[in-house]
Amino acid sequence: MPSVIASDKSYADSVNPQWVRLLDVLQMNVPFAHCEGTELFRSDGQRVLDFLSGYCVHNTGHNHPRIIAALKEELNRSGPVMLQSNVPELAGELAWRACESAGGRLKKAHFTSSGSEGVEAAIKFARAHTGRTGLLFAEGAFHGLTCGALSLMGSEFWREGFGPLLPEARQIPFGDLKRLEAALSTKKCAAFIVETIQGEGGIRLPDAEYLTRAQALCRQYGSLFILDEVQTGMYRTGRFLAAQHFGLDPDVAILAKALSGGLVPVGAVLMTDDVYNSVYSSLHRAIIHTSTYSENSLAMRAGLATLDVLESE
Ligand SMILES: Cc1ncc(COP(=O)(O)O)c(C=O)c1O
Repeated sequence: MPSVIASDKSYADSVNPQWVRLLDVLQMNVPFAHCEGTELFRSDGQRVLDFLSGYCVHNTGHNHPRIIAALKEELNRSGPVMLQSNVPELAGELAWRACESAGGRLKKAHFTSSGSEGVEAAIKFARAHTGRTGLLFAEGAFHGLTCGALSLMGSEFWREGFGPLLPEARQIPFGDLKRLEAALSTKKCAAFIVETIQGEGGIRLPDAEYLTRAQALCRQYGSLFILDEVQTGMYRTGRFLAAQHFGLDPDVAILAKALSGGLVPVGAVLMTDDVYNSVYSSLHRAIIHTSTYSENSLAMRAGLATLDVLESE
């Protein structure tokens, strides 16, 4: 048996046959030999323009040469990788760069390996910080498919068969400040979590005042204002965070997708010192929320190179 079998059949047999069927139905089941910038190249040489961009992963284009070079350099130096017993300096550098770019009160970063994992962390941090358990989310939201993140999505399509999900997670209409205030005024909500611009919900832009007023209401009632910038962050809308277009100053902002140039799984939860310190509050709690691949040097190096590319090009 060959060591590598590259075919639809092995994927369908051993991974997800329904995905292969769906691509066939959509007439999108096309093998690509390589990808560069905005273009995908078929083995027969035909070029295809990529308008999907991995759902906002490829803000720097496919296989950006500067990011690839940075990754090769990182591999070649055989540095400390995932020791779990050292200070990962690259993580410090990337955290500082991301927080500087985000501005406002976002001063600390917790790294993850996906957007959903970032949402999970944000839920835990909001609960630890406020001592409350309730969570508010917007109708039409997409925050990821792990159990906590899925609890913050109202769509039955995604939820069916996976419950019970987190109790005390409540949906309110996107853009409805009255309903938001009514829920926040119970003072049971740890956070309102919202995409700055709804992605999977249909690229829904908020009204000009909605998010600033939502942020003020969160402050008034002691709930965290958490922005999911997994799709909209990393200059996708022209600014580092879409929040910057609206002059927002969230307590927490979640990044993932484009942060590593589409090459290494990574995510980052940016937050205020106050939120961070309420979780990592003592020596005893120094590693109270961690994840093995978080802060790994390939992801951190890719993140730094991606910021270099996005800032300079
Ligand atoms: C806005 C938003 N948040 C969170 C996620 C979840 O990210 P991931 O798929 O990396 O877990 C997604 C994924 O599409 C997303 O669009």
